[in-house]
Amino acid sequence: MTGWLIIKFLKANIVYNTWLDTYAQDGFPKVEGWVDARLLPILKLLHQTQAEMAVQGGALEIGVHHGRFFLPLNAMVAPGEASSFAIDLFEDQALNIDRSGHGSSSKFAESLRLYDRHGGANVQIIAGDSTRLRHGDLARFRAIPPKVISIDGGHTVEHTLSDLQFAEAILHDKGAVFLDDILNAHWIGVFEGAVTYLQRRPTLWPVFIGYNKLILVPMSVHASYLASLRKHLPGGKIMALCGYSLLAPAA
Ligand SMILES: C[S@@+](CC[C@H](N)C(=O)[O-])C[C@H]1O[C@@H](n2cnc3c(N)ncnc32)[C@H](O)[C@@H]1O
Repeated sequence: MTGWLIIKFLKANIVYNTWLDTYAQDGFPKVEGWVDARLLPILKLLHQTQAEMAVQGGALEIGVHHGRFFLPLNAMVAPGEASSFAIDLFEDQALNIDRSGHGSSSKFAESLRLYDRHGGANVQIIAGDSTRLRHGDLARFRAIPPKVISIDGGHTVEHTLSDLQFAEAILHDKGAVFLDDILNAHWIGVFEGAVTYLQRRPTLWPVFIGYNKLILVPMSVHASYLASLRKHLPGGKIMALCGYSLLAPAA
């Protein structure tokens, strides 16, 4: 890296880490949702790893509810970098067939207004069923591929498989995908869906499991992400899932 790039990189990390520290105290406890606070330092690490690899793009979440996890994902996006996408059934809860959460467009808009790094200016809100997206909308998401995607919508095996395949199709070449509720006995469809997906020898490989999330990355950058996680999370344990090596943080 040149001197100018190093300064840009350090500045981006300071800005994100400061934003996240403020959010942890202020927005995080007030925005209803299901996110383990221990995940926030992992987001800092991921942001740093992506900055080192010069990854640019927006954020996308399937299942935003009130935005508790979407907000720190969208804060990873620098001003002017890219659009982000917030996908949820919102008021169309008749389609929420496994009753996972209960999106609200007004509460999500309020979260954006109060706590989003960009005041929601770069956010495109998509009200709809994620399992129907891939048929018509791929070009829209591929224009600037998202660098970070969170899957937290419907929790059946079918939702999980469909959302993982959608994420695989649109993710940035060096991006990362979070899959929620990977080890939650009340939402066991996610685990079955993830295992089914991994047994098909996909191009997204799991690299981290912890705090109720599985992180998957494109196979070409799996070794780089794993090395970065190992370096910054000493005491973590290397595990194997469907034949892939991934890190579990220290207990
Ligand atoms: C567990 S909540 C999401 C929690 C959120 N990620 C957070 O940060 O707290 C699940 C959300 O997924 C939405 N949802 C359920 N099925 C969906 C589907 N098929 N497509 C899109 N959104 C869906 C629900 O409306 C709900 O808001």
